[in-house]
Formats: sequence, structure tokens, C-alpha cells
Amino acid sequence: MSASLASTFHAQGVRAPHVASTSARTHVLRVALAGCGTVGGALAERLLAGPLPGERRVEVVKVLVRDIEKARRVAFRPGVVTDSLAAFLSAHVDVVIETIGGIEPARTLVAAALVQGRRVITANKALIAAEGAALAQLAARFGGQLDFEGAVGGCMPVVRALRSGAAGVGVTTIRGVLNGTSNFVLDRVSSGATTGDAIREAQVNGFAEADPSRDLDGIDAADKIAILAWLTFGVAPHMLPVARRGLADALAFATIAGPLGGRAVQLAESDETPHGLVARVEPAVIGLGHDLARATAEWNALTVESGSAGTMLFAGRGAGGDPTAGALYGDLGATSTPLPAPRAVQVASRDERVLHWLLWARVDLAAARALVPTVPNAVATAVDGDACVLAFTATPEQATAIRADVAARGVEVALARDLR
Ligand SMILES: NC(=O)c1ccc[n+]([C@@H]2O[C@H](COP(=O)([O-])OP(=O)(O)OC[C@H]3O[C@@H](n4cnc5c(N)ncnc54)[C@H](OP(=O)(O)O)[C@@H]3O)[C@@H](O)[C@H]2O)c1
Repeated sequence: MSASLASTFHAQGVRAPHVASTSARTHVLRVALAGCGTVGGALAERLLAGPLPGERRVEVVKVLVRDIEKARRVAFRPGVVTDSLAAFLSAHVDVVIETIGGIEPARTLVAAALVQGRRVITANKALIAAEGAALAQLAARFGGQLDFEGAVGGCMPVVRALRSGAAGVGVTTIRGVLNGTSNFVLDRVSSGATTGDAIREAQVNGFAEADPSRDLDGIDAADKIAILAWLTFGVAPHMLPVARRGLADALAFATIAGPLGGRAVQLAESDETPHGLVARVEPAVIGLGHDLARATAEWNALTVESGSAGTMLFAGRGAGGDPTAGALYGDLGATSTPLPAPRAVQVASRDERVLHWLLWARVDLAAARALVPTVPNAVATAVDGDACVLAFTATPEQATAIRADVAARGVEVALARDLR
């Protein structure tokens, strides 16, 4: 993809670095901002409020949006807001910040800016997961820089930490609650809200998009764990298959996790196993004392397990305009470090780890005990009047087969990892 990205822009003659050389001398950082919605609007407000740390003044030179008539939370000078990609890309700036989201036109815009040798900052996890390796190659080839702290974990600085510090400490596992929308919804449902009301509240707060399916289906968390695995293990994000199950089973556990001594979450992890690297996004019940239990409501949390540094913990607000804008703002003030060149990493064809699981089934204890022979080593516990939970160990493939087998008997069922 990188070759085609690069040749496309060469063919179009997009190459002269339009970096505003005078601005460095006058200490003004000239910024072009693509997107002025939840994140871009919050960032614009912050940029217009005052200089960066170090007293460097920022000038927002161009703002690209879809609808130039729409009211914005900040007032830009006349001529700054445009809906023309060509006008946006021809502005003489030091930094391009992308907060549009999705693949196109974000990909075209980011690639063109990197080919022009510019610094690019983005919060776009979908783009980085799909094209990060190719875009990093463009940055390296044309003298641009690519930063994306806002793409993972909102305001917790995990990208910078893993980008600069992972190689030295022998990281073996990264495990996190990485989708603020799903976590917020699970939190509210566990407190008695309906799923619909919880999603609407997340939307009102700017955590969830109009269509929250990328969050609830685990696609967003899968993108994020693939990005973190790139920074940690060196695998190109698009080369790492992420096994994924959506939020439905986690919602079934949300109201009963308390009596089980835990909380339901959408877990994302990547683990170096003897068979190669694995990655998963799936429902889990975590113990209330677990490091990841710090992530309540829209918060995110990440543990990084390493041989020499032990377990490191990051936690912070993982969604919303202001926390994400804070991460972009942090990138603007920080020095960019080179991205790891993707290397050949062995990826496991199947996840052969034997893991702990919980199977919730709407049956009484006698019926649950009758299921036990089907579920090896299972311990059944009644959780309320008409449902039971079976705790057991199995590989992910076996656990999924057990879930399917119980469901095939007409029993309402849900499966979650057990991290209590
Ligand atoms: N919201 C969060 O909590 C959060 C957290 C972390 C990361 N992110 C990431 O941040 C990025 C932005 O998210 P957001 O929530 O700020 O999205 P948003 O509120 O929908 O804003 C998107 C902005 O991009 C503009 N835009 C959309 N399509 C365009 C097009 N074809 N050409 C030009 N402009 C276009 C929109 O213009 P109009 O205003 O004219 O419609 C809007 O200003 C995404 O990559 C998202 O994944 C968001």
C-alpha cells in the first residue's frame, strides 16, 4: 500500500514541502485542522485559548469541514474554514491535524501531507490500524512525522510510552479496557439502565457516534489493540488478526457480575504465546481489585506486562472531545519519536492458551449441573432465581464451541473471560 500511496502523490506532483519555514523563526506554529466536530472543535478551542507550553504561539490557518454553514463552538477568521481539500492541502503550515475519522478522505489527506514532508497528528484509530505501517513509511521516506496519541486511550499517554519504551523491557502481554463507549454503556446497564438509554446517554456526552456499532461490536477496540501491538511487538497493525466478539454477552453479565465479585468489561488483549502472537477483543468479568477495574464509566485502562519492568498500569478518560483533544494537544507540544518499522512477527494461527471462562445460562441449578458433563471441569453456581454461572477452563475455541452447544439446546447463554 505504501508504494501505491507514494506513487499516487508523486504522479500528482504533490511533493514540494510546504512547511512554513518563516514560522519557525517567528515562533508561530501554523496549523491546518481537518475536522471540527467533537474532537476537532475541542482542540480548536484549546489552540485559540493561548500559546503552547514554551510560549510558542499557534495559528490555525485552515479548517477543513464537510458543511461550512454549520455553527462551530469557536469563531474562526473569515476564509479559514473550507470544504475544499485542495485549498486545505495548499495552505502553508507546519502541522496538519486530522480529526475527520474513517478511511477517506482522511487517508488521502494524511498521505498527501506526509509526502509534503509535514508533521501529521491524528486521532483516527481506524486509519492507523488499516494504514499505519504504510503511512509511517511515507513519513520516513519524505521527512514527515506521524503522531497519534489521541487514537488510543484518550488522554492516557500509552502510545508515547509504548513507542519509546516498549522494546527495552521485554513486554509479553498488553491487556486493556480500550473502548470508552462500551465501558460507559456496561457501567450504566450494571446500575439498572436499559442498553438503549445507556447508548443515548453516551451519545449526548460525545462518547458514542450516531452509529455506535464500531464500538459495541468491538471493531474500535480491535483497531486499538492492533495499533498497540504494532508499537509493542513490531507487527504491522493490518497484519494482526484480532478475534472479536461484540458486547451482547458482556451486557448479559453486566447485571450479575456484582454478585460474582466483579464487573463486566469489553477486554482487549495481545499476548506473545509459544505459538506466536495472539490478539482478542471479548466480554470479560474482571475482579473489583483487578488493575483494569480502575476503568469505570468512559475511562480506559491498560496493563503492560513485561519481564523486567513488571506490570505497568495506565488509566484515564478514554473518550470524549476534551480528553482526546488533550492527547492531540500533547502531541503538538511533544517531540516526535520514529515509529517502529514493521517486522516479520510470528502470528499464531490459533489461540491455544487455556483460559478461565464464565458461562451464564438461564437454567436452574439442577439443569446447570446436568450441563456440567458437557463443560469440562465446570463449577456451577446459581446467580439468581432462574440463571446459573458455570466457571471452567478451556481454549478460546473450546469455550466458543461449548457456548454454541448450550445455545443449541435452546438455552439463553452468554460467555465471558473470567479475570476475577
Ligand atoms: N469522540 C471521541 O470521543 C473520540 C475519542 C477518540 C478518538 N476519536 C477519533 O477522533 C476522530 C474524530 O471524531 P469526532 O467524534 O470528533 O467526529 P465528529 O464529531 O463526527 O467530527 C468529524 C468532523 O469531520 C468533518 N468531516 C467529516 N467528513 C468530512 C469530509 N468528507 N470532508 C471534510 N470534513 C469532514 C465534519 O464536518 P462537519 O462538522 O461539517 O460535519 C466534522 O467537523 C475520529 O477518528 C474518532 O475515531 C474520537
